[in-house]
Amino acid sequence: MRMIRKRTRTRAGGAGPRTRRRLRAGLGATTTALLTVTALAALPQTTAHAADTLGAAAAEKGRYFGAAVAANHLGEAQYTATLNREFNSVTPENEMKWDAVEPNRGSFSFSRADQIVNHARSRGMDVRGHTLVWHSQLPGWVSGLGASDLRSAMNNHITEVMTHYKGQIHSWDVVNEAFQDGGSGARRSSPFQDKLGNGFIEEAFRTARAADPAAKLCYNDYNTDGINAKSTAVYTMVRDFKSRGVPIDCVGFQGHFNSNSPVPSDFQANLQRFADLGVDVQITELDIEGSGQAQATNYGNVVRACLAVSRCTGITVWGIPDKYSWRSSGTPLLFDDNYNKKPAYDAVLSALGGTPGDGDPGGPGEPGDPDAACTATYTTAEQWGGGYNGRVTITAGSSPITAWSVDVTLASSQRVISVWNGSPTTNGNVMTVRSTWNGSLAAGASTSFGFTVNGGSTPPPQVGACTAS
Ligand code: G3I
Repeated sequence: MRMIRKRTRTRAGGAGPRTRRRLRAGLGATTTALLTVTALAALPQTTAHAADTLGAAAAEKGRYFGAAVAANHLGEAQYTATLNREFNSVTPENEMKWDAVEPNRGSFSFSRADQIVNHARSRGMDVRGHTLVWHSQLPGWVSGLGASDLRSAMNNHITEVMTHYKGQIHSWDVVNEAFQDGGSGARRSSPFQDKLGNGFIEEAFRTARAADPAAKLCYNDYNTDGINAKSTAVYTMVRDFKSRGVPIDCVGFQGHFNSNSPVPSDFQANLQRFADLGVDVQITELDIEGSGQAQATNYGNVVRACLAVSRCTGITVWGIPDKYSWRSSGTPLLFDDNYNKKPAYDAVLSALGGTPGDGDPGGPGEPGDPDAACTATYTTAEQWGGGYNGRVTITAGSSPITAWSVDVTLASSQRVISVWNGSPTTNGNVMTVRSTWNGSLAAGASTSFGFTVNGGSTPPPQVGACTAS
């Protein structure tokens, strides 16, 4: 009997142990003759880690450190390895927005958002819900409704989406970006504002509280990071809500910064004045355009501002590698296109009280580790209704290798029915594939193996670190 190894990282600050679990399921009797199905057992193995990741360091300060995640990148080994290693909260970047979950009235589609929520929660990460009522990424049918229909559509949308995720979301952006830019302090024109008036925000929050009483309910906006007319208009609304008992628990400050919109010098003071109203504050979509030390200094300042405000409960960066940012040309994130940690990463980790490592983006042998003897990269080669063909490319590091092996973990519904260019053994739903004729690779050379999965075309498999000999 082989043992399944659980890798457990200690999360301090009361956050509890974080476990990267391997899903339990059989790869199945229909697998090729090469597969040997063995009984499942679990051997917890705890490794003490200094706070050498963003999530662990933030947890030691009683905060979360999250990332916006896109479902279509979860099949990329380096993306998921970085996500799983560094972050303890996720926000679906687009998958929970109105156009994604209710493209037609009353017809809900949660599959892509579920993929992210399941990925996160099966690894002990928290989830921020983004977003229920927003003028953007709103399907055309909503804009076409009259006032009374719009009111019931809004309340129904909030109720359906929050009920689907009830108990799984730590904070919801109930209303997003309802105020105008500039000095007017006015509400932004939107179907909700124009047809329902100012009261739509309050109504949305009341509906949200009824749908999931345990979730923190946030108002979220941008260009509200410093003390200015727009943030003061939001502040006045929150103060009014608190005085009248309208349910609001938190305010999200998006934190999209660049040279035109730099980190304001009164950022911390602004967070504090909201916190003093009796709400939590969160930095919800942080990205800072720039590079090198200047970018690093800005990131460090934002993190220190949050830590200085006791009700600043967490920070989310709006993406993982620069290449997937909504404004990638500004290289605003903590990891470069190859998942190397940038100086900004080290500044954030230091500000969180963690210990920057040697710039090595992966643990030993993990994808993205430049020192790794080999790395494994996953792609879905073909996909159909009931399954897919997966391909894993193995690339040797800076020295030749003579053999390799990689773990591939499937969802519980899925079964591998064939494997080529590799020799598989299975343990539960974890398939270990070892090299056969293709183990010897020169430095930097690649080979690949493939497999066919039945039982669902999603989610993609989790491909672990490459081990070489
Ligand atoms: O998925 C389609 C794809 O099928 C199509 O081929 C392609 C062609 O344009 O578009 C793809 O959709 C894009 C989507 O991102 C997914 O990549 C949309 O066009 C694009 O508009 C959308 O942009 C998102 C943007 O919100 C929309 O307003 C960004 O990814 C997302 O990062 C951004 O996030 C917002 C927050 O929700 C709220 N605060 C501001 C922040 C930045 O704009």
